[in-house]
Amino acid sequence: MLAGMSVSLGFPAVRSAGVTVPRPSVSALTDQFGRVATDLRVSLTDRCNLRCTYCMPEVGLEWLPQGALLTGDELVRLVSIAVTQLGVEQVRFTGGEPLLRRDLVDIVAGCAALVPRPEIAMTTNGIGLASRAVALAQAGLDRLNVSLDTLDAQTFAAIAHRDLLHRTMEGVAAATAVGIGPIKINAVLLRGVNDTQASQLLAWALENGHELRFIEQMPLDAQHGWDRSTMVTAERIRELLSQQFLLTPDDRPRNGAPAQRWLVDGGPATVGIIGSVTEPFCSDCRRTRLTADGQVRNCLFAHSETDLRTPMRAGASDEELAQLWRNEMWVKAAGHGMGAPDFRQPDRPMSAIGG
Ligand code: 5AD
Ligand code: SF4
Repeated sequence: MLAGMSVSLGFPAVRSAGVTVPRPSVSALTDQFGRVATDLRVSLTDRCNLRCTYCMPEVGLEWLPQGALLTGDELVRLVSIAVTQLGVEQVRFTGGEPLLRRDLVDIVAGCAALVPRPEIAMTTNGIGLASRAVALAQAGLDRLNVSLDTLDAQTFAAIAHRDLLHRTMEGVAAATAVGIGPIKINAVLLRGVNDTQASQLLAWALENGHELRFIEQMPLDAQHGWDRSTMVTAERIRELLSQQFLLTPDDRPRNGAPAQRWLVDGGPATVGIIGSVTEPFCSDCRRTRLTADGQVRNCLFAHSETDLRTPMRAGASDEELAQLWRNEMWVKAAGHGMGAPDFRQPDRPMSAIGG
């Protein structure tokens, strides 16, 4: 009753360790633990042209209905609210596969026209990038992460269930040629599938001037097949790479970046390792998320969401939408709790949240 009253007065209250903490009246996206979200991840679609085993089942995943997806104009409006009212400084487009959005270039251009102009990045599998790299760069795309787990066509097909390694490689080459760089490469290692290829991937990235980051596999696959006991841990990744390279810690500040960086063979080249599960960085998290159907999420692993699409379509003002967004971020949990016995995977898979 008390919490309900507070919400109606515009001062949402949350229970934390038995204490009700009202949200202070500040414009930024703060939470109870003093973190401030300045990095917005926007999922543009939950669809994808690959079926990576750690993300999607090979068949049978239902897509969000078309009418539930935000239009380009709606997306740009919400990004504009984030940038002008909520202190967001960086926007990253993810999916599913963001290149599947026909209006991607317009969305990027719309965000690049905002004042203050946010930094604009995208995480993609690279398929279809070759034909759009120039347009995206001209529209204002600043940075690019490409997901690539292997350089071997057969292994790629085994992981992604599509024989499309060459398309991803074409995309990386095209983006490099256009000068969107340095490109970051995201790799997930799976035991017995591509883990022994880690050093080969690093040698390739070093040769081509890409920044490689390995990401520990997280329990976000739609089919709930994640198994902690077979996961390739950050520690194991370091061991695998150390068979071929000398890794020394890179002491530059991380500034909220999830990857712990290592100098390779004395530097200056580095490799990143993102130990989301075994070495979590939640205490320094600066992220807020918007799903393709217009829900704000305060964490990949959150069990709550705040719907912005329905109020937006019903005529809510920018300030009303900004308040809803702040309220959802205020109740962000301290951590993802993956190590806890009562950990429960979120209902939405990675493809419907955005990585
Ligand atoms: N665990 C870790 N990383 C994942 N990705 C997708 N699913 C998972 C998972 N279950 C990665 C993709 C992409 C980024 C958005 O997240 O490879 O690079
Ligand atoms: Fe598609 Fe990325 Fe999921 Fe692979 S991980 S299926 S590329 S959304």
